[in-house]
Formats: sequence, structure tokens, C-alpha cells
Amino acid sequence: MKKLRVLLIGAAFSADLHSEGYSRIMDKVQIVGICDRDLDRVAALAERYGFRGYEAYTDIDTAIGECHCDVVDICMPNFLHYQVAMKALHAGFDIICEKPLATKVEDAQDMVDTAHRLGRHIYYAEDWLFAPAFRKAIAIMDSGQVGKPLYIRARESHCGSHSPFAQKIEYCGGGCMIHLGVHPVGFLLALKDNRWTELVAMTSGGGDTNLVHSQMEGEDWAGAFLRFADGTYAALEANYVTTGGMEDVLDIYCEKGCIHVDLSFAGPVKVFSIDGLDYTVEKAEITTGWSRPAVDEKYNLGYCGEIDHFVDCALAGKDAQVGLRGRDGLETLKVIHLIYQSAKEGKHIRNREQEEQNEV
Ligand SMILES: NC(=O)c1ccc[n+]([C@@H]2O[C@H](COP(=O)([O-])OP(=O)(O)OC[C@H]3O[C@@H](n4cnc5c(N)ncnc54)[C@H](O)[C@@H]3O)[C@@H](O)[C@H]2O)c1
Repeated sequence: MKKLRVLLIGAAFSADLHSEGYSRIMDKVQIVGICDRDLDRVAALAERYGFRGYEAYTDIDTAIGECHCDVVDICMPNFLHYQVAMKALHAGFDIICEKPLATKVEDAQDMVDTAHRLGRHIYYAEDWLFAPAFRKAIAIMDSGQVGKPLYIRARESHCGSHSPFAQKIEYCGGGCMIHLGVHPVGFLLALKDNRWTELVAMTSGGGDTNLVHSQMEGEDWAGAFLRFADGTYAALEANYVTTGGMEDVLDIYCEKGCIHVDLSFAGPVKVFSIDGLDYTVEKAEITTGWSRPAVDEKYNLGYCGEIDHFVDCALAGKDAQVGLRGRDGLETLKVIHLIYQSAKEGKHIRNREQEEQNEV
């Protein structure tokens, strides 16, 4: 069977998440290159996941120019997504791109247009759509057994990004809304086929007006209300003021029932440790006392399913499912930017194009 040849660009946090996914499907994937300016990270990543026979690169241009791959997987800070994607697309490769698709809407639009023109695919890495518990919630909702969804509340939050690039708007594109809120926004848009009609938002504003992270240019708290073409309301939230580990929460209120999913602290294992464990859950500050160490965290957060889906699609030369295509990353970024506009200008924003379609 033909294996998909993958060039990983970046060998740190998100590359680790993707590598867990690749390592489980090595019958259909070959990691042919890993690029990071820190070669120790490259070696450590390869060692951790048992990747052999790959080329190590420190320079992105050399990697894209020389590596014999089919797909370039971009696990780089947000501000580099655009330039790495454009290089990879022009070199004839499909790309997997971490969220957000880019920091600027015009760059994301250029990526989508370029991929379309060159007949290449963009696989947009929205892991929420592959979290098994969220998929179960979608399946129950779609079955009609709890009636029509009326109101959906979704949030991702933790104590702050580990990445130095998350501190500056120039590198990140914003604060917690673009970094974490991108998941609930992308997830909701995927459920509703991008058909939103109105939104209104508020954020902590960044810098001195932040709740905790005054050194951060972007906001550390953000909330938005959206309405969709089918009448469903949604409340979406992201924040960097959550202690005790990352929270990924989804509540769906329907006509004849409700569904609650909490991916955080949901594991069946309970531990009490006086000295503390090596690791419990993503972004937990301490591990002493009582904890619920995550079981197969990367699988349960959706990373393995997402990578498996992308590999199958790339091998078949197909687009990804709704929510995971380049154009879905673009729509998500547009909504994030409108959330920022709404918060900054205190403005209720209507999606006239969608409202007109509704009237037809
Ligand atoms: N889906 C998720 O849940 C999730 C989680 C974390 C991060 N992410 C996304 O993944 C992307 C990467 O984030 P991360 O946390 O892995 O970042 P990171 O800061 O941990 O790692 C970035 C890596 O890129 C390397 N690098 C930076 N500039 C380089 C250059 N010019 N040439 C070569 N190497 C360079 C650095 O050495 C570092 O190893 C971001 O877009 C982020 O939003 C997604």
C-alpha cells in the first residue's frame, strides 16, 4: 500500500500532538522530514514516536525544497502559517495547517484561493471535531432523540499559552479568542455549515485591561453570542484565567433534552499523591493532592482521529469533511475577527449575506 509521505514543520507542542496520531497509523504514513531550528527537538520528537529514516532540517525553505513528501504539516507559530503554507502549496504539496489558519483574513483567503488554483488541499486541524465525546454528542443530537437544538454553549480555557509567540498580537493574531476560542467557533460553524446570522462580543481588551495577563497584548478573556440561520443561539467563550488544567466544555440544550460534555477532568482514574505526578492533564499547574490524570489525552481531545482523517483524505486526493477544509479555517478566522470588531466597537454585527439567503 502507498504510504503518505509527511514533512513535519515544527517539532514542539503541536508537532507532538500530530505525531501521536501518525505513530498509530504507520502502516499508511511515513515521516520523511522534520524541520525545526532546534535540532534537539527534532531528535527528541523522532525518538519519542519511533520515527526512523527521516531527514532533519533547520531551514524551512530547504526542507520544502528538498524533501520528497506529499504533505507538509505546519506546526509553526500562527504568524508563520501563511508563508510556510504558500511555499508548500507552490512547491506542489497538500498542507495540514494548525489553527488558526492564519493571523489575517486576507492571508487565509490567499491560502484558500491559491490551493484552489493549484488543485491542492488544505487540511485545517480542528481537533474538536474528532474528540470522541463531542462526536457522540453530535450523533445524539443528529439522531433527533433530544429534539431540535435551541442553544449551545461551548468554551475552551486554561491558564495561558506556553508559547512565547502567544504574547504578541503580531505573532498570534489576538489573545485567547483566536488561540482557544477558535475551537468552539470552528466547531459550531461546522455544525451549522458556516450559516451564522448575527453576533455580539466582549473581551478583556488586552494589556492593562486584562484580568490577569497584563503583559499580554491580546485579551485574556473573551465571550461571544452567535445566532445561526436555523435559529439556534450559541454562547462561546475562551479565557486564560482558568487554573487547574485545560477546560473543554460543550452544553447543548434541545427541545426534548440536553447534552453535557466536559472533556476536562473526565477520566475514570483518581489519584492522591503527596509528592505529585509527572503529568496529569494539559496545563495543570500542580499535580499534588487529588487529581484525575487524563487517560489517552491526545486521542480523547481528537488529535489522533483528525490526523487519521487527513491521511486518508490526502491518500485519496479528497477534501476533508466539513469543518476541516481550508475554507472552514477561513470562515472561522473571519468570525474571530468579527468578534474582535464587535468587542472593540461595541457593535452588534449581522451577516447580511446569510440573512438574504434565508429570505430567499
Ligand atoms: N490544536 C490544538 O489544540 C493546538 C495546541 C497547541 C498549539 N496549536 C497550534 O500549533 C501551532 C504551533 O504551536 P506550538 O504550541 O507547537 O508552538 P511552539 O512555540 O511550541 O513550537 C514552535 C516550534 O517552531 C520552531 N520554529 C519557530 N520558528 C521557526 C523557524 N523560522 N524555522 C524553524 N523552526 C521554527 C520553534 O523552534 C518551535 O520548536 C500554533 O499555530 C498553535 O496555535 C494547536
